[in-house]
Amino acid sequence: MNPIIETVIVAIWLMLPAYITNASAAFFGGKTPIDGGIFWGKSRLLGEGKTYEGLLKGFSCGFLFGIFQHLFLNSFGLFPFFLVTLFCLSAGAMLGDLLGSFIKRRVGLKRGAPLPLVDQLDFVCGAWLLLFLFARDWFIEAFSLDIIIAVIILTPLLHLFTNYVGFKIGRKRVPW
Ligand code: CTP
Ligand code: MG
Repeated sequence: MNPIIETVIVAIWLMLPAYITNASAAFFGGKTPIDGGIFWGKSRLLGEGKTYEGLLKGFSCGFLFGIFQHLFLNSFGLFPFFLVTLFCLSAGAMLGDLLGSFIKRRVGLKRGAPLPLVDQLDFVCGAWLLLFLFARDWFIEAFSLDIIIAVIILTPLLHLFTNYVGFKIGRKRVPW
C-alpha cells in the first residue's frame, strides 16, 4: 500500500475513539452545564456548551467503540492495559474539549464563537496529554512522528467536515 495512505489510515484508526467521543458529545448534547452556570470574571467558566450529559455520552460512546475496535484488531495495547489506553483517548478528548472552552471563555469568546485550531485540536491535545501521562509506552510506540503529523493535518479537516454535517442535520448550532 502507498505509505502515505497507510499512515492516514493508521492515524484515523488510532484516533477514532477520540473522534467518536467528540462527535457523540456534540450529537447527543445535554442540558446540565458542568460549570453550574458560574462566571469567572465577565465570562462563564466553561459555558452552556459543556454539559455533564454530553461528557458522559461522548466518553461512553468513544470508549465502547474503542473496545469493538480492539476486539477487531488488537490495536490499543495488551490486556488489560488497552482499557487504560482507551480511557485516555476518550476521557482525554472530553478533558481537552473542556480546556479548549475554558481558554475561549478566558479570551472573551462566547459559546460557539470560532477559535481556529483550538476548536479542532483541543480534544486531540487532551487525549495525547492523558496518553503521555498514563499510557506512555503504548503512546510512544504507536504514535510515530509521521502519525502525529498526519493527525495534526487530518483532524481539522475531518472535524470541519463532520461539524458541517452536524450543522446541516440540525445537531450543531454552528458549522465549526
Ligand atoms: N457538548 C456537550 N457537552 C460537552 C461537550 C459538548 O453537551 N461536554 C455539546 C454541546 O451541545 C455543544 C456541542 O456539543 O454545543 C458542540 O461542542 P463544541 O463545539 O465544543 O461547543 P460549542 O457550543 O461550540 O462551545 P465552545 O465555544 O465552548 O466551544
Ligand atoms: Mg470544542
